[in-house]
Amino acid sequence: MNQTTTRISPEEIDRQRGFCAQIKAVNAALPTPPLALVDTYGCQQNEADSERLRGYLSEMGYAFTQSEAEADVIVLNTCAIREHAEQRVFGNLGALVHTKRRKPDQIVCVCGCMAQEKHVADKIRQSFRHVDLVFGTHALWRFPELLWRILSRRGRVFDIPDEAGSIAEGIPVRREGKVKAWVSIMYGCNNFCSYCIVPYVRGRERSRRPEDILAEVRQLAAEGYRDITLLGQNVNSYGRDLGLPGVDFAWLLEQVDAVPGDFLIRFMTSHPKDASERLFDVMARCEKVAPHLHLPFQAGNDRVLQAMNRRYTREHYLGLVRALRQRIPDIVLTSDVIVGFPGETTEEFEDTLKVLEEVRFDALFTFIYSPREGTPAARMPDPMSKEEKAANFQRLVDLQNAISAEKQAAYVGRTLRCLVDVLSDDPRHDLNARTPGGRLVHFSGDKALLGQFVDLKITGSSTWALFGELAREE
Ligand code: 5AD
Ligand code: SF4
Repeated sequence: MNQTTTRISPEEIDRQRGFCAQIKAVNAALPTPPLALVDTYGCQQNEADSERLRGYLSEMGYAFTQSEAEADVIVLNTCAIREHAEQRVFGNLGALVHTKRRKPDQIVCVCGCMAQEKHVADKIRQSFRHVDLVFGTHALWRFPELLWRILSRRGRVFDIPDEAGSIAEGIPVRREGKVKAWVSIMYGCNNFCSYCIVPYVRGRERSRRPEDILAEVRQLAAEGYRDITLLGQNVNSYGRDLGLPGVDFAWLLEQVDAVPGDFLIRFMTSHPKDASERLFDVMARCEKVAPHLHLPFQAGNDRVLQAMNRRYTREHYLGLVRALRQRIPDIVLTSDVIVGFPGETTEEFEDTLKVLEEVRFDALFTFIYSPREGTPAARMPDPMSKEEKAANFQRLVDLQNAISAEKQAAYVGRTLRCLVDVLSDDPRHDLNARTPGGRLVHFSGDKALLGQFVDLKITGSSTWALFGELAREE
């Protein structure tokens, strides 16, 4: 096994749960349970981390609230991927000064990717004096101990270890809902795409042991979860650090598929340099694996891809799409794209548009490049004006919207086995479901259908959603 992956011992996690018990004893003396609020920004990995923070908080005897004014403990689980995400956190953090003035015992915590950045921690230390606790991604497993320090001694605590990262099993999880569940299979990233902050704040790639992952999936299936998403920054390199012969992501997918139960398996994110035809074969063969691949291509021009340090070419990417569609013709394909990478010309950007036309993605996540301190791209000359980038971005969005609308319209008239995954908050329909490929369907029906697979006839579509009705038995 790779020596660099630190595994937090079960005794250490027991010690953390001991701090939970100590806090619980203090909380039990209060007339009503104190309240906690965990506010999550960013990606699914952060959602999954927040479920662990809530698991710990629940063990400490906290109940949960959505109200910042009421909360005794507020945790902001932050995202550093783009400047906009950081500004939102700073904005909300600033507003908590007033909340805390009215409730001076309130404990404000900041964790996640921003907290792991030194310049952010310094800024919070100096300018956000109402923040009590700051802990980086690598310190999440010791949240109970850190919170205990605050509760027993007050004062401020900053825990931002500069390390490659570890794996901690056995942290309690409090999941949102009973239908969909996240399962992290690995943490961190080794790719160092030149624009991306993730490798700096989430550490090196490290894989959970297959037996730990499979035990979690088995338990979720037994509890009736219907949609299980395997999470990792780059799931295609799963297992490389484990040194176990034959263990890779395709193998893991087959093992998860073999777990008994009626559930769908999704996964994200995949990197084109590591996605293999073997993986596509396994996807085609495994019944539970959803016909959906999120495969970010980021840019359609080879010079830009190289400057991004993506380590594949446009032709390689298009070849992957062809190989995948050969095996799974109705695969739903989604991707991420960055517009305005430093030095990208409008002509080079047009190669991105050509990829859109050639592949015809079902949906696209589009971003304007945002410089991240400490990454190589942030030091590259970036001569294009904001206005020109915005104009290119608009061209991209317009083209994709037209493609999405056409692809969505092609569903009309089809009947698909969909999973009813959430109650709708839109008064025009009761329920939301997902097609096997993950497209959103609005429909009306009995709320008791939540968590069930139903046959839906698609009757209408828009750029973002499908509309359907329960199919009548013939
Ligand atoms: N600027 C803009 N978009 C970025 N992404 C990652 N880093 C940046 C950045 N600095 C995008 C990539 C990635 C997605 C999660 O976020 O497209 O796939
Ligand atoms: Fe960032 Fe690239 Fe790693 Fe994705 S693969 S997290 S874009 S460095």
